[in-house]
Amino acid sequence: MNVLHICANPRPVQESVSKQLATAFFMRLAERNPDINVTNVDLYQSPPPFLTLPAFRGLWQPIIEAGYKPTTGEYNAGAYSRSHAEQLKQADVLVLTMPMWNFSMPAIMKAWLDQVIVPGATFEFEEGGTIKPLHHIQKIVLLIASADEFKEEDPRDGLTRELRATFEFLGVTDISIAWADGQHGHGEDEAKEHKDIATETAQDIADEVSEMAMPVEPQA
Ligand SMILES: Cc1cc2nc3c(=O)[nH]c(=O)nc-3n(C[C@H](O)[C@H](O)[C@H](O)COP(=O)(O)O)c2cc1C
Repeated sequence: MNVLHICANPRPVQESVSKQLATAFFMRLAERNPDINVTNVDLYQSPPPFLTLPAFRGLWQPIIEAGYKPTTGEYNAGAYSRSHAEQLKQADVLVLTMPMWNFSMPAIMKAWLDQVIVPGATFEFEEGGTIKPLHHIQKIVLLIASADEFKEEDPRDGLTRELRATFEFLGVTDISIAWADGQHGHGEDEAKEHKDIATETAQDIADEVSEMAMPVEPQA
């Protein structure tokens, strides 16, 4: 089983609650199943470019305009997209680690999504406008930290709502979330309590993922 971990947080792990959730998740996963293959991508080490006009023409135009031939420059502008979309296509499980910034995901994570969710690479348009996935991701795991507390379906939450919509578009509805909210402005005890609960949730999700990798017992 292949797990792809995309991390969008410039802070060192000792200062970052979301990265600490990722540490708890991956330690538990390795304990439960050391054979799971994990690929780590730190977006701050290999930053995705914004989708430029040449990249759009190289990646999208041949799909939406029959016979369109990208120039060499347009083709080359799609290099990051091609290599990272290919990496995504190898994944069975995708783990996204990030803080909430301005009620949404960090812009670098959004830039990565814009690079990898591309027709002809990770999905295809079918007759009648339906979408055919060209990947085999079964599950998405979100590891998040925020200052404020958020209730379920909170209208201020632009982060999980947008990611749910994005991956539902790609045909993935199994999304598990460990969210350490209330990390600032609510007192140290409350912050710690929320972080501890999120850490346990991250470990429980790691257990689920390790079970997905277990061979199915033949029926007696
Ligand atoms: C640029 C910026 C924007 C932020 N916006 C929000 C926000 O909209 N809502 C919120 O609850 N916390 C917000 N925060 C607080 C962070 O989400 C919080 O510090 C969280 O713990 C960061 O995750 P980390 O510890 O993994 O770095 C913001 C922090 C920064 C630096």
